[in-house]
Amino acid sequence: MRIKRKKILCVDDEPINLQLLEAILKPNGYDVILARNGIDALKTIDSEPIDLMLLDVMMPEMDGYEVCRTVKGNERFRNIPVIIITALTEKDERIKGIEAGAEEFLSKPFNFSEVLARVKMLIKMKELNDSLQSAYKDIVSLTRHGAAAIRSFDPVNFSLQNSIDSIMSQAIRRQEEGDERPEFFLVGIGDDKKNLWHWIMYTFVEGAIKGRALDLKLHDLLPIPDMGGTRLSLLNNWDMGNSEMASFFNRIREHCPDVDNTVFYLSPNLCIFAMNYGHDVSDYDASVLNNFVVQSLFLKRLSSQVQETEDAFDYLVYSLARAAEANDEDTGNHIIRVGRYCAVIARYLGLDEKFIQAIRIQATLHDVGKIHTPAQILKKPGKLTDDEWIEMKKHTIYGAKIIGDHFRLSMAANIAVTHHEKWDGSGYPNRLKGESIPLEGRIIALSDVYDALRNARVYKPAFDSETTSRIIIEGDDRVLPSHFDPGVLDAFKHNVTKFEEIYEELRS
Ligand SMILES: [Fe+2]
Ligand SMILES: [Fe+2]
Repeated sequence: MRIKRKKILCVDDEPINLQLLEAILKPNGYDVILARNGIDALKTIDSEPIDLMLLDVMMPEMDGYEVCRTVKGNERFRNIPVIIITALTEKDERIKGIEAGAEEFLSKPFNFSEVLARVKMLIKMKELNDSLQSAYKDIVSLTRHGAAAIRSFDPVNFSLQNSIDSIMSQAIRRQEEGDERPEFFLVGIGDDKKNLWHWIMYTFVEGAIKGRALDLKLHDLLPIPDMGGTRLSLLNNWDMGNSEMASFFNRIREHCPDVDNTVFYLSPNLCIFAMNYGHDVSDYDASVLNNFVVQSLFLKRLSSQVQETEDAFDYLVYSLARAAEANDEDTGNHIIRVGRYCAVIARYLGLDEKFIQAIRIQATLHDVGKIHTPAQILKKPGKLTDDEWIEMKKHTIYGAKIIGDHFRLSMAANIAVTHHEKWDGSGYPNRLKGESIPLEGRIIALSDVYDALRNARVYKPAFDSETTSRIIIEGDDRVLPSHFDPGVLDAFKHNVTKFEEIYEELRS
């Protein structure tokens, strides 16, 4: 079992005493560090973690009491237990030692059994003290992780991988603070869609955590043994009775041979092995890991539920758009293409992802008002009369009315009422001009015209991409470049190929 040996610092100016202490402690499993005076002793505790100090009193320059006072007066070192060794049996001297903060006393000449008994007892006390401190830090760490995860939680773009990475960075922070943390983590994330596992080995390298993807064909470990759902267990003993479990762990051990003191979390989609803690792992270590993982899995679940609702919302928007087309001439995938062109322009203009996704979906509703336009107008093979044209233009206003004023559809409402407005003020229904037309309206105006030009209408043939872009950029008898926001027009010029690809992909 890989347990760190406890380090004992012995401080005495007499080499013979140091040799004696070493001879008692070393064979009993302790690492012994020797110091000939107080200054060297203080330098040692400053440079490496020490579990206990055995301190002589009578030393030149700095006596044992002073060293003890210095240790106990320092926040970093005050938890190191100190045993004062003295030939003095005077009561006053003991009181001085207690005042200096020493935990115990030993008298010379040494009684071997007494030295070992006191050392053992104080080291146990320090371990308990350390685990209390560590538990406190775990609570802080869990709270910090939870608060950060909630603060940055984006249900639509949640990634379990990123969430696991942040758990790992908490572990490295603890490692830096000198706590005993697992030496490495093996993480497997199951990908439902591809039916495979991604395995990553996280190790600590020079104060940073490094994740390395493992191509160990571990996905043929599937399926993860059924442990009755998610479960957390300790793993000090690799030899498990159950043969399915045993072969699973043996495969892991093939890739991580030098493993001990491991806590693991197994579920059908996530496995985390925290390995080599440096101490006997306990239920406590298991429940800390469990709490971190549960936080991530909770967010994952929340995220998929939000995502489901979002998908349903998009689906309904699209259904409404399709329903409105029932009356209209057959425009095939027109509404989907227009949404996609809008997204291309929005992305080029550097708008945020939320805007891009919203315009992609909500642009499909631009002609929803046509549900109120009589079919004989919509499907009329010839030119519209003035009255019919007046009626036709009303689809913009009807559209905004149908969509209403729910904040989630405010972009769709804007689009419905402004998609025929023109930058130069010659559009309808309100003859808005320039930036008084909302940006989404300016973006769809160009996208809608592009798609109309690509398709045959009763009054015109279908144009190819080159002719269409020339008409938009240079104008013809119906379309003028001044109809479009110059920024949107510029975005179009830079993305003509993407428009063409979308048209070809969704041609109908
Ligand atoms: Fe329209
Ligand atoms: Fe349209």
